[in-house]
Amino acid sequence: LRDRQPILAIDGPAGAGKSTVARQVAQALGLLYLDTGAMYRAVTWMVLQSGIAVTDQAAIAELVSQCDIVLESGNSLNQSSLPEKSLDARSDARSLPTLNVWINGHEVTAAIRSVEVTAHVSTIAAQPIVRQELVRRQQAYGRRGGIVMDGRDIGTHVFPDAELKIFLTASVEERARRRQQEWQSQGQMHLSGADLEQAIRDRDRIDSTRRVSPLRKADDAIEIQTDNLSIDEVTAKIVDLYRQTLAHL
Ligand code: DC
Repeated sequence: LRDRQPILAIDGPAGAGKSTVARQVAQALGLLYLDTGAMYRAVTWMVLQSGIAVTDQAAIAELVSQCDIVLESGNSLNQSSLPEKSLDARSDARSLPTLNVWINGHEVTAAIRSVEVTAHVSTIAAQPIVRQELVRRQQAYGRRGGIVMDGRDIGTHVFPDAELKIFLTASVEERARRRQQEWQSQGQMHLSGADLEQAIRDRDRIDSTRRVSPLRKADDAIEIQTDNLSIDEVTAKIVDLYRQTLAHL
């Protein structure tokens, strides 16, 4: 007898398309969704906002242990406060509800995607005390299962017993291209191609060489290389894999 519903872990480097795919998959399957990167970003925003040095581990430890983080969307945390939604009518990216993020009562949905937060989040996420606290919250939130979680260490560390683990990858060039497209669609432009590729390589290196739960494909994860696949194709593949996994439980 299982004591929880299945868990679907989606890990991979920045820009591989994890969060859009994870949200679409959650919507198609009627599962909860947790964007763990948004939690690290919210803490980073709070640290910067408080004027604490990103290397001041004692002050950051204090801050992270006390902060109140809320993620909310149609099928995410605190969904009880939202009306029931029909899931099957809204399976394309355009109709995905926004994931709203609050920390200590500040609405930071857009702010956590800023260049400044993005530049510092890897440093904050590398600190053991930050990971310990956020992983504890992620495990508590997912303990009943029935959830899609995306991040870097979900399959290796947060839920090593997840029923289905996906590792999404894409080349650095493709990830840079996607990021630029995203900025363009928002009417912004931050970095040129070569600088952006370098920034992505830097973040990959910090994320995969840190001492505590580095970005790594779990041995039993299924790798999907997404360079030549659309978001919808990746979603469909994962939905299929999930259904196959359920059939064999
Ligand atoms: O997925 P993202 O780009 O929003 O993640 C932001 C940062 O947080 C990323 O640099 C790595 C870190 N992160 C992490 O260390 N572990 C996770 N489970 C999720 C994100």
